[in-house]
Amino acid sequence: MAFSFAAILLLLASTAVLLALNLQAVFAEQRREVILSRHGAVATDDLRCSRIGRDVLKEGGHAVDATVASALCLGVVSSASSGIGGGAFMLLRLANGKAQAFDSRETAPLHASENMYAGNASLKAKGALSIGVPGEVAGLHEAWRQHGKLPWSRLVRPAARLARGFRISPYLHMQMDKTKEGILADEGLRKIFTSNGSLLQIGDLCHNRRLSQTLEAIARYGPQAFYNGSVGIALVKDIKKFGGIITLRDLQSYQVNIKEPLSSDIMGLNILGMPPPSSGGAGMILILHILDQYGIPSGVSGSVGLHRLIESLKHMFAVRMNLGDPDFVNISQVLSDMLSPKFAHELKKTIMDNMTFSPDHYGGKWNILSDHGTSHLCIVDSRRNGVSMTSTINSYFGAEYLSPSTGIVLNNEMDDFSIPTNDSSSDVPPPAPANFIRPLKRPLSSMSPTIIVKDGLLKGVVGASGGSMIIAGTIEVFLNHFAKGMDPLASVMAPRSYHQVS
Ligand SMILES: *[C@@H]1O[C@H](CO)[C@@H](O)[C@H](O)[C@H]1NC(C)=O
Ligand SMILES: *[C@@H]1O[C@H](CO)[C@@H](O)[C@H](O)[C@H]1NC(C)=O
Ligand SMILES: *[C@@H]1O[C@H](CO)[C@@H](O)[C@H](O)[C@H]1NC(C)=O
Ligand SMILES: *[C@@H]1O[C@H](CO)[C@@H](O)[C@H](O)[C@H]1NC(C)=O
Ligand SMILES: *[C@@H]1O[C@H](CO)[C@@H](O)[C@H](O)[C@H]1NC(C)=O
Ligand SMILES: *[C@@H]1O[C@H](CO)[C@@H](O)[C@H](O)[C@H]1NC(C)=O
Repeated sequence: MAFSFAAILLLLASTAVLLALNLQAVFAEQRREVILSRHGAVATDDLRCSRIGRDVLKEGGHAVDATVASALCLGVVSSASSGIGGGAFMLLRLANGKAQAFDSRETAPLHASENMYAGNASLKAKGALSIGVPGEVAGLHEAWRQHGKLPWSRLVRPAARLARGFRISPYLHMQMDKTKEGILADEGLRKIFTSNGSLLQIGDLCHNRRLSQTLEAIARYGPQAFYNGSVGIALVKDIKKFGGIITLRDLQSYQVNIKEPLSSDIMGLNILGMPPPSSGGAGMILILHILDQYGIPSGVSGSVGLHRLIESLKHMFAVRMNLGDPDFVNISQVLSDMLSPKFAHELKKTIMDNMTFSPDHYGGKWNILSDHGTSHLCIVDSRRNGVSMTSTINSYFGAEYLSPSTGIVLNNEMDDFSIPTNDSSSDVPPPAPANFIRPLKRPLSSMSPTIIVKDGLLKGVVGASGGSMIIAGTIEVFLNHFAKGMDPLASVMAPRSYHQVS
């Protein structure tokens, strides 16, 4: 029973993703889907990719196997949001209770430096210098190496096949429309996503034959093809042509970081979250600790409950800008604060039910960063191994470059770093030093893959896409179901609120 419940939540988690991005009602209606299953479930942003993952489970694949197949599929059909040119956070909880966090986020190139943009924020937001070293293939392969049951090539081939010809979804078309100028300006994107000078339409067949060949090489030769082989060599050559600084040595040096997930007991549940450089897990735990003190469910209900959530969000955003990549900055104090019920209690004392405050009340010392994009998937297999994974190339179509010789859309993840500015005239807070660029460092993220356990049993797998809005969206869906008792469909369909202080 618990399992099928979890599965429902899975499916809806992916619906939440779409709603968070303000899809037209008609598209959301299409996704009003409830699935009951005893043997596993796959929820992704795209039905084609959910089916590919489901078929892997039907063949006896592990949740990690299905994750590989579904995530690579998303990189093809939802190529404005994620792909092998980007990075990902994968949270895995095995049926035996062991949990792992696979951090395959992009890293700053070896030639990157704190002042590489000389204060020009538009250079880190778009274009060749905004590209971070991609991690997704390495992360998927490492998780598969440890847990996979089906052959690697079996899991990569469906995406390779799709890349030869797939139909443009309404969602991808919306993203193309919003990025039209960038698509028309880049030869690689233009070749794949336009025909005769205009964008492909919904339902049109899109062909990315180079990407198909790239995936075939990865199917056959594994991640070496990408990180130290023909794909990587071609990719680096293209990036250099764009004016980027990534070299083959960057790809060869890429490392997946495997970490202990954050774990916290709140409201009678055990919540597993993504550790830094994501701020998602710690952010969720801090907010839930604050809200828990008001009493569940009465304390989080109605307009006062909503007010408390928003005030908690503001505190969380202020605090989280002190986080950064723990391999480079000592964040042990701020992290232990964010996980501590006592710290949450102190913050709660500064929240008033009858008023809000000016931004400085929330104690934020640093400029709040806005991240973008992403794609999310939730998978549970028949043995109740569960995966929650968020993947991204950051903004729609990332850096707005498609590598012509590999078909890969490149990320603009460098935009998630903070950079020093000389601008002290405005009243904007200064940038956060913990998140300054260093070679090989990973930028701060909001991605919040989350797994919920009760009495030692898997209870739910949730997550969302939507950049900075991910943490709020995931918490609200979580509260709707686990605190307010709403059914899973209602939990994700309910309207949501958001505030990030400034
Ligand atoms: C700040 O100004 C100094 C002196 O003009 C310059 O050398 C430095 O590159 C500037 N830094 C940024 C981040 O713009
Ligand atoms: C920042 O970079 C963009 C993109 O190259 C350029 O158009 C703009 O002029 C630069 N701004 C400044 C202040 O240098
Ligand atoms: C392409 O556009 C031109 C000019 O708008 C038009 O004459 C031509 O018929 C179009 N070709 C196709 C294949 O649609
Ligand atoms: C890259 O490939 C070469 C052989 O082509 C091999 O000698 C080398 O060890 C590889 N480097 C890494 C980092 O895998
Ligand atoms: C990190 O900072 C904490 C205090 O904030 C300190 O106790 C600890 O020793 C520091 N760790 C390292 C490795 O410097
Ligand atoms: C809110 O209530 C506190 C006491 O609980 C009071 O000090 C404060 O003035 C009130 N604020 C407003 C705007 O009424």
